[in-house]
Amino acid sequence: MNLLERTNEVRSQLKEDLSKVQNTFQSIEDFRLKYIGKKGLIPSLFRDFSALCATEKREIGKILNILKKDAEKAVQNIQDRFADSQSGEDEFDYTLPGVPFNRGHLHPVTQTMNRICDIFKEMGFGIEFGPEVETDFYNFQALNFPDNHPARDMQDTFFIEDDILLRTHTSPVQIRTMLKQKPPIRILAPGRVFRNEAINSRSYCVFHQVEGLYVDENVTFGELKVTIEVFAKKFFGKDVKLRFRPSYFPFTEPSAEVDISCIICGGKGCRLCKHTGWLEIMGCGMVHPNVLNTCGIDSEKYSGYAFGMGPDRITLLKYGINDIRLLFEGDIRFLRQF
Ligand code: DAH
Repeated sequence: MNLLERTNEVRSQLKEDLSKVQNTFQSIEDFRLKYIGKKGLIPSLFRDFSALCATEKREIGKILNILKKDAEKAVQNIQDRFADSQSGEDEFDYTLPGVPFNRGHLHPVTQTMNRICDIFKEMGFGIEFGPEVETDFYNFQALNFPDNHPARDMQDTFFIEDDILLRTHTSPVQIRTMLKQKPPIRILAPGRVFRNEAINSRSYCVFHQVEGLYVDENVTFGELKVTIEVFAKKFFGKDVKLRFRPSYFPFTEPSAEVDISCIICGGKGCRLCKHTGWLEIMGCGMVHPNVLNTCGIDSEKYSGYAFGMGPDRITLLKYGINDIRLLFEGDIRFLRQF
């Protein structure tokens, strides 16, 4: 094969290879080396070219030069195309609609707590917070749970040290507030509480409470009842009925538990209310004189009421969720539904 034939052969080979080059660095580099690299096909044609006589050189020189230029241009083009695809600029289509992104929202229990707080704020209650790590004094002693009092067993406590614990209820915020403010006091205290309980579908070791406290001159149980009633009708709907059952808490006397008529069956009896027609929503009572006196508030002059409710349970009831653990697992597929 003479040089002219070989040149034509290289040209058609180059055309075929060019159509197969992939848009990767390696593929482009292989192509470049094969044709215009120092040991490539075109430089080798030029080496043979230098051995030709002048007439032959005139005949082939031009063709060879065009092949060399075409090969260099092809390499330049595929290198440019590769660089563009890497910077991504040419790939971006500005006319496409934006990618939608998910906006977060408040946890269902936070939504319930906010709603509870909003209703009481309308009635003039302020919001107070207290620490989750408490001392025995605030969590028990000042709330009229003396040492060794059996009522301490009602609340399985996580102790950190003898005297330091994770609060088992939000009632210690009552004490903290009464120690720093003088009556009239009207506060709500939402927050997390902790109990060392067996975990199952109905109880978890962490949950929430919203505590309420009102202390002033001549506060009566009647005011407590009407306040709870106004709250329950706003929260659960105006047709809800209430029932106060006598109960016991060391820090209130008298004490009661509050039931609402079942929000599913309206009181006829169903699975949710275990066929009683009633659902328990909170504990409440008149603040025990010992508690007022411990906080330096004269129990002869002042009286007060307090209540405590569980927004987790209320959230479960509201949405018909049958396992409290779902509220604390942080599973986004569950939480997105609310
Ligand atoms: N602290 C009580 C508990 O965790 C709930 C409670 C009951 C709070 C009666 C109160 C109250 O303020 O008056 O079981």
